[in-house]
Amino acid sequence: MRPIIPDYLAEALRDVEPDTSGEPAGYIPELAAANPERLGAAFAMIDGEVYGAGDIDTEFTIQSISKPFVYALALSDRGFDPVLAKVGVEPSGEAFNEISLESDTGRPLNPMINAGAITVHSLAGTEGLKPRERVERVLHGLSAFAGRRLKMDEAVCVSEMEHAHRNLAIAHMLRNHNVLTEDPRVIVDGYTRQCSVLVTTRDLAMMAATLANRGKNPLSGEQVVPEPVVRQVLSVMFSCGMYDAAGDWATQVGIPAKSGVAGGLIGALPGQIGMATFSPRLDGHGNSVRGVSLFERFSSDMGLHVM
Ligand code: DON
Repeated sequence: MRPIIPDYLAEALRDVEPDTSGEPAGYIPELAAANPERLGAAFAMIDGEVYGAGDIDTEFTIQSISKPFVYALALSDRGFDPVLAKVGVEPSGEAFNEISLESDTGRPLNPMINAGAITVHSLAGTEGLKPRERVERVLHGLSAFAGRRLKMDEAVCVSEMEHAHRNLAIAHMLRNHNVLTEDPRVIVDGYTRQCSVLVTTRDLAMMAATLANRGKNPLSGEQVVPEPVVRQVLSVMFSCGMYDAAGDWATQVGIPAKSGVAGGLIGALPGQIGMATFSPRLDGHGNSVRGVSLFERFSSDMGLHVM
């Protein structure tokens, strides 16, 4: 039988390849130096089968795609109420690195923007963990979603920390409101390490498939987080995962999704498939230009819009 899906993916990549619009993230020097031509796409089915085309085994940093997974870990480690008390679930309609806090409580609007994700990082693992143990919990949890042991890119982490003034400012605001209760610099350091975890497009598809498979990794069979946690995470990805482009995405693509500034993009369809693309040039919202085009195409070709 002809391998229909790899052919389909290769053709989709050929069609978007000429689009060289956008720029790799400039505010993290190590990312600005990335090869902007890289391009890959992978589908992971909930039975563990993976189809891919292009650069699906090239490693890059997970960046904001870590946010929904660490949100899942925090919900699972601490329970819903303590996490919801600190981070809301409303779309901000603002850029990912805006402050976007509720004016009365200082609670970040959602866990997908930096303010929310920095707070969520502080809630990963059981209460009272040392910062290093918390980072270990995050790395272990992300690895369980991927089904293999992941590691961090120290160079990207150091590069981002040297320029993390904006995230540090956000963290100080959060500390001022007692949303963060620890040293802001220590939390931002942990969050930056979380963003520096190296993944491939294949890994991201498998991580998305773990969400699509209601929290159970299709390869290892491990139930990484409970099913109600996955429902919460996918709902927030649907409404907030693409930042101030979330409404366009919901109407045009209609798949719970999350992007990262290294150029990764994931989508997860419950009970069906995890999808991932990689292309480092970003649009003005911080989302991969060719990744967005690919997802628009996947959604329309295969009727994947959830509505
Ligand atoms: O906090 C930051 O700015 C980065 N480590 C992650 C931002 C990100 O990936 C935004 N997504 N498109």
